[in-house]
Amino acid sequence: MRVSVLLPAAGQGERIGRGPKAFLRVGGKTLLDWALEGFAWADEVVVALPPGFRVDGLKTVPGGQTRQQSVFNLVQAATGEVVLVHDVARPFVVRPAIERLLQAVRATGAATLVVPVPDTLVREDDGRYGGVIAREHHRLVQTPQGFRRELLWQAHQQARAAGIAFTDDAQLVRWLGHPVALVEGDRRMFKVTYPEDLILAEGLAQVWNS
Ligand code: C5P
Repeated sequence: MRVSVLLPAAGQGERIGRGPKAFLRVGGKTLLDWALEGFAWADEVVVALPPGFRVDGLKTVPGGQTRQQSVFNLVQAATGEVVLVHDVARPFVVRPAIERLLQAVRATGAATLVVPVPDTLVREDDGRYGGVIAREHHRLVQTPQGFRRELLWQAHQQARAAGIAFTDDAQLVRWLGHPVALVEGDRRMFKVTYPEDLILAEGLAQVWNS
């Protein structure tokens, strides 16, 4: 099955405050370059870029106002039977995790990488320590998330028609009524979100190919 990798890269990186995250540099390369190298094996890569940005030699679509709108544009442009949606904010692509994901997508049609919750998880109760949530029953959701393209396209079209907003694609497919398999991810595929994450990413970049 042909695999299209879809990279929503159109966020403004507001929590870091240094412009669009896709163009931040780690280990001498942009986050977008890291992702492109990690998925160099794919049959097709499509990137949603922020307005006004261009990258030569790439198949691109315009980014939307939200991540969901950016992914809508990406799925519309994709041609593979299977699509992997991956945030460029996760520069380190761990191949064995991708292989696990692809196997699950081929078997079930929809799957996402997840990792366990390492810390005690608690509800905040007006600034105080509230009820503890059983962390063993919860997972942190990573990307890539993989789907049969037709399924994801149907989910995006229906969510748009219903005016419903989701923060990731697995939610959207589940909302459509299709189960999403959980596949063991890898903590190195963390999302660069806050300024200190860049320091962690810089450290990991130094040992990435060694
Ligand atoms: O902001 P957050 O880190 O959740 O964004 C997740 C991913 O979605 C990032 O790779 C970002 O570039 C992308 N995004 C997008 N279009 C938007 C907002 C976010 O492609 N309008």
